[in-house]
Amino acid sequence: MLAAIMLLIISCSSPEDVDPDPIDNSNQPIPLKELFKDHFPIGAAVTPNHMDSRTPHGRALIQHFNSLVAENVMKPDALQRVKGTYTWANADRIIQFAKENNMLVRGHTLTWHSQTPDWFFYDENGELHTPEVAMKQLEEHITAVVSRYKGDVYAWDVVNEAMFDWDPNGQIIYREDSPWYKIMGPAYIDSAFVYAHRADPDAKLFYNDYNSIFSWKRNKIFDLVKRLKDNNIPIHGVGLQGHWNVGTSIQDLRTTLELFRGLGVEIQITELDLSVYLSPNEPGSTTYTEQFNMRQRIAYPEIFRVLLDYSDVITGVTFWGIGDDASWLDTPGRKHFPFLLDEQLQPKPAYLEVQRLIRR
Ligand code: XIL
Repeated sequence: MLAAIMLLIISCSSPEDVDPDPIDNSNQPIPLKELFKDHFPIGAAVTPNHMDSRTPHGRALIQHFNSLVAENVMKPDALQRVKGTYTWANADRIIQFAKENNMLVRGHTLTWHSQTPDWFFYDENGELHTPEVAMKQLEEHITAVVSRYKGDVYAWDVVNEAMFDWDPNGQIIYREDSPWYKIMGPAYIDSAFVYAHRADPDAKLFYNDYNSIFSWKRNKIFDLVKRLKDNNIPIHGVGLQGHWNVGTSIQDLRTTLELFRGLGVEIQITELDLSVYLSPNEPGSTTYTEQFNMRQRIAYPEIFRVLLDYSDVITGVTFWGIGDDASWLDTPGRKHFPFLLDEQLQPKPAYLEVQRLIRR
């Protein structure tokens, strides 16, 4: 009895109780990379002009992020717009900034139907190349790009958006209007992974796609990744782009993470943005209303709760931008405010909700 009372006294006066960590009880934002350090790297999609520590964007990147991806400048049209002529300068700037600031770099993307010059697909008469010619060009591109950044880019989106999108009956598997597919069917997918692995055997290789948490698409991605693995094609993970909104189903996300965890692959959220609109029909706004704020204060921690539950298989979370000042989603009169940092690159109330989730 006495021992129990003593124990109670000792535990009541433990340093934690008497002197609570002042940070935990305040609303002082903790940098994102600190918040998530025990879980996964936190990344941002960037442009070369962000790569300067004297600019607000450069400073925000250094403060909050430990991983970068090029929003555009590592795509095929940026690196090899003209066949045989590579333009590395912009991509190099990102690699350099990442090195100086001890950040990881994801590579995006090697094989895609979009932002890829026509010469990859068509001859001088406008006819589709033969499979042999197209495959050779793909091999050359992937080999050159992956070799150049060997050891600097730790993970590649090897193939982007190869599955057919809106197809509730599951009839159409691949994106058949992709010139890659038109030329050679799905064979380019397998080959792209083999070429990337040959050029850098240490790089993590991902298949990346959007709408990937919806049953009608995730099952196709699952089948693809399973087929690749069964055939010993070097694939290490699935990238869920994460172009979501404040109404995105947490259950769909959980089901998807569960499914891919069962496949034994890594999962990364590669292009996270959480639009404030529930549907494309909602009227647009250029101010961050209290309603938007409330929606994100609820939705953001819900999403991160699920991501934390799967942090054993989630090896990276990357936002598709830095702060609400600029997002690829924005159109005149309609801003999406999709990030945790506001237009001044300062933490939003939703940020503090995410922080509370972790520092409970
Ligand atoms: C987008 C960029 O953000 C835009 O700047 C560009 O004009 C078009 O591409 N899925 C992807 C990304 O994999 O590469 C896309 O990025 C967004 C959708």
